[in-house]
Amino acid sequence: MSAKRARLDRFISQHCQIPRKQVRLILAKGRVSVDGQVVRDADCQIDQFSQVMLDGQALRQEQPIYLMLHKPVGVVSATKDDEHKTVMDLLPDYQDKGLHIVGRLDLNTSGLLLLTNDSRWSKRIMSPEHKVAKQYLVTLKAPLTQAYVKAFAEGFYFAFENITTQPAQLEILEPHLARVTLHEGRYHQIKRMFGRFRNQVMALHRLSVGNLILDETLAVGQYRPLTPQEVASIFG
Ligand code: URA
Repeated sequence: MSAKRARLDRFISQHCQIPRKQVRLILAKGRVSVDGQVVRDADCQIDQFSQVMLDGQALRQEQPIYLMLHKPVGVVSATKDDEHKTVMDLLPDYQDKGLHIVGRLDLNTSGLLLLTNDSRWSKRIMSPEHKVAKQYLVTLKAPLTQAYVKAFAEGFYFAFENITTQPAQLEILEPHLARVTLHEGRYHQIKRMFGRFRNQVMALHRLSVGNLILDETLAVGQYRPLTPQEVASIFG
């Protein structure tokens, strides 16, 4: 999902119903600011979250939304599905707000799921070069050994994508329970990694994404908006 970008003069012209020629005069007089800075350049690119002011009056733009949801098992990480309940069904107050999911979880995975309408923010989290850490609690059918720790750190070759997975950290918390930290998000990645040991994942739960930790006061299926500090923590 891409940010809705627009030229500043076109946006003001459409918003205020004045011709673009007149908008350029208004800009030249320094009557317009974008995110607190006076802008005279008609070509300036803005997006749906830029705060545009004309003579000190805000021209309405979309409000960014950032949510954390405690995803239950059995709910699909999608906005529409013919068979299963979707995470959007859990957010009745946020229908038609243009939300998208930041890093899907499988149907039978629970835990932290982020949703936003701000594609710049979600791209920052998802882009491979930023290697944002995601932590999972994994319950396994067979007991763990130190061989897992080594193999996860070395990476696994995935023939389908023709890649070797980035070094991942595996901590053995109990014989059948591990905390795994990934810095990427391949399809069914954790299940495929344990699959190499023919060890079945019995339960998978995401604890955190970057500095964002699932709020333990959120019951399964509940959500809350992120605080401004949490939103900014992705860039920190
Ligand atoms: N790895 C998986 O296999 N499933 C998820 O939902 C997340 C990571």
